[in-house]
Amino acid sequence: MNAINARLRLETPPLQSAEHTELHPQLHRAHVRFIGVGKTYSGSQGPVAALQGIDLAIQRGEVFGIIGRSGAGKSSLIRTINRLEQPTSGRVLIDQVDIGGFDEDQLVALRRRVGMIFQHFNLMSAKTVWQNVELPLKVAGVPKAQRQRKVHELLELVGLQGKHKAYPAQLSGGQKQRVGIARALVHDPQILLCDEATSALDPQTTQSILALLRQINRRLGLTIVLITHEMAVIREVCDRVVVLDQGRIVEQGPVWEVFGNPRHEVSRTLLAPLQQALPDELQGRLQAQPASADAAAVLRLQFTGTGHDEPDLAALFSALGGRVRLLQGGIERIQGHGLGQLLLAVSGSTWNVEQLRERAGRWAQRVEVLGYVV
Ligand SMILES: Nc1ncnc2c1ncn2[C@@H]1O[C@H](COP(=O)(O)OP(=O)(O)OP(=O)(O)O)[C@@H](O)[C@H]1O
Ligand SMILES: [Mg+2]
Repeated sequence: MNAINARLRLETPPLQSAEHTELHPQLHRAHVRFIGVGKTYSGSQGPVAALQGIDLAIQRGEVFGIIGRSGAGKSSLIRTINRLEQPTSGRVLIDQVDIGGFDEDQLVALRRRVGMIFQHFNLMSAKTVWQNVELPLKVAGVPKAQRQRKVHELLELVGLQGKHKAYPAQLSGGQKQRVGIARALVHDPQILLCDEATSALDPQTTQSILALLRQINRRLGLTIVLITHEMAVIREVCDRVVVLDQGRIVEQGPVWEVFGNPRHEVSRTLLAPLQQALPDELQGRLQAQPASADAAAVLRLQFTGTGHDEPDLAALFSALGGRVRLLQGGIERIQGHGLGQLLLAVSGSTWNVEQLRERAGRWAQRVEVLGYVV
């Protein structure tokens, strides 16, 4: 815990002021900076501390994920970026500018620079796809010809060319979210906030929306800040991730690092669904001690992404000796790092557990002996 805190402090040193000239070079590029941000709501049963002492830098052009259990403060945090929530303490800087003191006009301008999409799309049911996207431009007083060009271009970008005249009720969830995305982009924002934007969608549609967000991130250079309960979404699209718990940051880092080697218990719990469980049938047969001389030791080898290469299976199997069977497993690449696990059954080996562990440890960053099967 102390090590994590020390690391977080190193990554986000407390700032005297953003205008300070001796800023850490990385923070100069920070698109969004949270400095000691706290948020306390006055709930019916007294004050609720939703955020406490948040120090965080989101870099320009990255896809940044926020995860945490329900009630951890994720929505409260993301909503301070467009001032849908005003922090109770601390400061939020966008491009080095403190948005805390913005007046009404400045807030309107800010919300044009910061687009947002929602879990339930928030579309107007009595308006067509075209009208939904056009509306914020109308409100902003953009001339008709310019509006038409923009709406046309955006509906093309999100893949809704043929749906201009459809009403939201005639669209699938994925299409509705595409309208939401187009609408969020009408003012050419530099930041896009997504609060559970794929949670109402099936896995396949989620994939297509994620691909669209990635494309927008790359093509338009947008900074994307994304909240989701689906860890696979974070793994798929995010560059870095922060884990919140009870309003505080408990862990942050590149996705491969946090996912490969989660340090905090909350992170481990959140990421548990991504872990391959031991098959039930095998779990049932597993014994704490070898029952006979031909029992096989069941090993779990974890690759946390910090190693250099994917394992050379032939070399690994030959080092383990005896008869090695692959029970389950796989390695996937996240941000260029090989992450994953292998479950192996090793039999006919004369080595003791410590030797097995040591030999496997040359290939994997973590080795566990789960038990024995006959
Ligand atoms: N307007 C409000 N008034 C009072 N309390 C609030 C308000 N909004 C949020 N809270 C409380 O603040 C805490 C953080 O809420 P928040 O919505 O930020 O969590 P979250 O991480 O987004 O949760 P979820 O995953 O369920 O969306 C919770 O305890 C919540 O009950
Ligand atoms: Mg929320």
